[in-house]
Amino acid sequence: MINLKKEISNLISEKLNINKSKIYENVSIIKEKDKGDYTFPCFTLSKELKKTPNIIADELKQNIKNSDFIEKIESINGYLNFFINKEFLTREVFKEFDEKKENYGKSDIGNKKTILIEYSSPNIAKPFHIGHLRTTVIGRALYNIYKFLGYNTISINHLGDYGTQFGKLIEAYKLWKDEYNIEENPIEELTKMYIRINKLCEEDENVLNRCRNNFKLLEEKDDYCVSLWKKISDVSMDEFNKIYDLLNIKFDSIRGESAYVDDMHEVIEILEKNKKITLSDGAKIVDLTLDGINTPCIIQKSNGSSIYATRDLEAILYRARTYDYDRCLYVTGSEQNLHFKQIFAVAKYLDLNEKYVKGLQHISYGMYRLKEGKMSTRKGNFIKVEDILNESIEKAKSKILEKNPNLEDIEEVSKKVGIGAVIFSDLYNSRIKDEIFDIDEMLEFQGETSPYIQYMYVRINSIIKKSDENVLLKDINYSKLSDEQSYSIVKLLYNFTDTVIQAKEKNEPYILSRYLIDLSKSYSVFYNQNKVLSDDIEERKARLYLINIVGCVLKKGCELLGIQMPNKM
Ligand code: ARG
Repeated sequence: MINLKKEISNLISEKLNINKSKIYENVSIIKEKDKGDYTFPCFTLSKELKKTPNIIADELKQNIKNSDFIEKIESINGYLNFFINKEFLTREVFKEFDEKKENYGKSDIGNKKTILIEYSSPNIAKPFHIGHLRTTVIGRALYNIYKFLGYNTISINHLGDYGTQFGKLIEAYKLWKDEYNIEENPIEELTKMYIRINKLCEEDENVLNRCRNNFKLLEEKDDYCVSLWKKISDVSMDEFNKIYDLLNIKFDSIRGESAYVDDMHEVIEILEKNKKITLSDGAKIVDLTLDGINTPCIIQKSNGSSIYATRDLEAILYRARTYDYDRCLYVTGSEQNLHFKQIFAVAKYLDLNEKYVKGLQHISYGMYRLKEGKMSTRKGNFIKVEDILNESIEKAKSKILEKNPNLEDIEEVSKKVGIGAVIFSDLYNSRIKDEIFDIDEMLEFQGETSPYIQYMYVRINSIIKKSDENVLLKDINYSKLSDEQSYSIVKLLYNFTDTVIQAKEKNEPYILSRYLIDLSKSYSVFYNQNKVLSDDIEERKARLYLINIVGCVLKKGCELLGIQMPNKM
């Protein structure tokens, strides 16, 4: 498909003696109505060309040669505005769709570069909390987006399955295993046990020592401790899998922190060789003041055990070797900003090829707050993400049944709508913003929600079904789509790939979410003003073809975000 931004930059650069890429970067899409489609602001060129922006724009308007894709050019207050020929663009979009069908929008700009995306990574024996929901949802969307753009994308779940807390859990298990129903409600029960053993440790030094000893035994691979740890790990994973099933998530690799423990001496040896380790109260630390970080990174505790950071460093070595990655993204909350700054700084001293160090990036996000008086108080502080998801499904179900009491497949549809709503609301704002979690709001059928998009999609499908017509590209009379509403849809369809690329560049799925809302809204305006199944056969064919592309793009866009489309609702 034609690259309008590029073509326009070329036309301008033929007339100006200025760096081509500078021109390209300055050409942008116009969002307001009636002002044209693309604009080139001339202000930054003023100094270099020794002319006022108005004069530069006027001269360009006079001199730029006519092209078939341009309808007219205007020069207004130093801006050069391009109006694209509507029919030309519509033809381009339709032709592209005809060739690519469900792959419309897909691109290979990623050149098969390898991108690791680490996300979710909950801690076993602990609740999968609402922050883990965010990393899971954001990470998966990024994974799909990179894949769609031709990257070799690998998803990693870096389970938190190691740490001194297991010494305590083992002790708690030995003491009270019969009092708790671990099989039935593993995480809740293990959490209770953990709180209780911590209290006991504070009161009784002997218990604390026994816990420490358990952890030591675990590190030495004592049979009993290892099998208990494994059991805890398995029951936790079963719990997490329920959530992953609801969200329809799979990982290319699930590799917990414990996998790195045996090799962590490697990290220490390299750092020692590079004279980066200093001792502090018997612990091994790396001072990072020269890297502008005031808190040193602890690599090994005084008792010889590894910590979170050490395991992350070993994981970097492992990933570099195993995947030869170009980039490695960590989708984790902003409360871990310092941690990632530290390990990325220490990574510079691990004798890694520079590309592996440069490729590390923390994709951080803000907090999810529960709406006061709602879920936050129901079960004390223990809110199960699984319950939240199920609640959303239930609420979606009753809303759908209100509208459509006899809907078949109601279970499946409510799942798609209920889960979609939670995912979409998470992806509707910039990652960094703190969010309020409000199920009722996210399930609104009107507004900036996924049920709204899904509803538009379902309506499109029902019109297409009703028409019972298979429209071919050669049957399209483009003059039937010259109205305002049709063209605003065409423009959005044309911008689909570009939107996904922008979302990828900023690692911000919300750019795609907002686009899907814009497209749905444009469709709704179009639909309210135009009868799709018109009696004029040519009009009807052209409109059917157009809305079919809208439906496909809505579906694909939602799919990238991790949201599935119902066929009816
Ligand atoms: N398990 C950690 C937590 O729940 C998140 C892990 C993030 N990833 C990492 N490589 N450190 O807080």
